[in-house]
Amino acid sequence: MRVPVHEATTAQLGAAYPFVANPPLADRGVVVGQDLHGGPFLHDPFALYRSGVLTNPNMIVLGQIGRGKSSLVKTYCYRHAALGRRVVVLDPKGEYGPLAEALGTRPIRLAPGGPLRLNPLEAPAGRRAGGDRGTGEETGRRRLALLAGLSAAALGRALHPVEHAALEVALAEALPAGGRAPTLRRVVAELLAPGEGAWRVGLDGGVLAEGAREVALGLRRLVEGELRGMFDDATTSGLSLAGDVVVLDLSAVYHSSALGALLTCAVGALEASWREGGGRPTVLVVDEAWAVLDDLAVARFLQSSWKLARAHGVANVAVVHRVSDLASAGSAGSVAAKVAEGLLSDSETLVCYGQAPAEAALAGEALGLTAREAALLTRLRRGVALWRVAGRSYLVEHRLAPGEEALVDTDDRLRVG
Ligand SMILES: Nc1ncnc2c1ncn2[C@@H]1O[C@H](COP(=O)(O)OP(=O)(O)OP(=O)(O)O)[C@@H](O)[C@H]1O
Ligand SMILES: [Mg+2]
Repeated sequence: MRVPVHEATTAQLGAAYPFVANPPLADRGVVVGQDLHGGPFLHDPFALYRSGVLTNPNMIVLGQIGRGKSSLVKTYCYRHAALGRRVVVLDPKGEYGPLAEALGTRPIRLAPGGPLRLNPLEAPAGRRAGGDRGTGEETGRRRLALLAGLSAAALGRALHPVEHAALEVALAEALPAGGRAPTLRRVVAELLAPGEGAWRVGLDGGVLAEGAREVALGLRRLVEGELRGMFDDATTSGLSLAGDVVVLDLSAVYHSSALGALLTCAVGALEASWREGGGRPTVLVVDEAWAVLDDLAVARFLQSSWKLARAHGVANVAVVHRVSDLASAGSAGSVAAKVAEGLLSDSETLVCYGQAPAEAALAGEALGLTAREAALLTRLRRGVALWRVAGRSYLVEHRLAPGEEALVDTDDRLRVG
């Protein structure tokens, strides 16, 4: 029997046989698991960035609850640590303890009223390693961006000009002598009772205090309310975020309505540690990142933090459930949609686990998938994800190495007896 010859362009064949045509992504780096179209699947954002395959090293992991997102991230960190990379994790559920232990350290557990504090206004690293040491313009801008993001999140709306001006004045007035960093506590005190500094923006102190009242009360929650004692004062002496492995356990506030604000403070505090990392490749994980990203101002801050971190050799990994978690995605053309698009385009590695049918089309569109690939997203079993790296697609089954089960088991709490 003779089969008639059929000719097609590679573009058409790529659509008819997705995945088949892609060459292996890399032959070195971290082994993720099995490429379901043959061979092992390896990924190394640092090497791919250096060789120009990726224009940024960031990664977003999407997927429904319990699909294996955190398991992937934990083993990914574990395997990167074996290659000598720094690992920094923001852990809202308190599930990275076994990873920290396996890497020879213990999580830093932050809790309201607990013994440990981090100052989110510590001098953030400038654009280049060893740059701005905390007195320059860049530092002032980053601190103001953090305060504006926190305030807008607390108020649930964009800030008025007078509120922005009040933050600027309070920040300047809260700056202690001797090059030390201001604290949130001082900033809130200055907002509640502005001093002479009000004249900088041409206002009387009473008028400025009136205009800043809502912002002051919104931020006060982190300083006096039920969330006090975590991010309100100077960093506890001896506490360093510059270690090889840093896990910040925020599980004490996982159910707080202010989780997004608290994660933002933690991201702010980490910015100061990039300088000490000295440009060493670092994987920074924000698990449960949807809690930060559903607020526009906070999503913007995170996006700018990603850009800043890249100059210091940091690859950011954010874990969310679905595309609509990204700044609530927003309607086409809206500011929220632009921030979501920005975050996606700043993350050239997208790992998509199983999605609900209603979300799959949106994910397909945002990730640039073919219709066939998007449909597949609804049928992926636990542990299998579609990796989209620099515009190429790979269907990958994440595999655990012997001994790694203990790092990833989050079903423990569901087991009886
Ligand atoms: N590749 C895998 N091989 C074996 N077991 C896995 C794998 N991936 C995940 N699991 C198991 O599935 C369970 C749920 O995984 P995990 O906690 O990573 O899900 P998740 O997507 O992060 O969920 P959530 O959205 O609730 O945070 C874990 O107990 C883990 O042991
Ligand atoms: Mg998880």
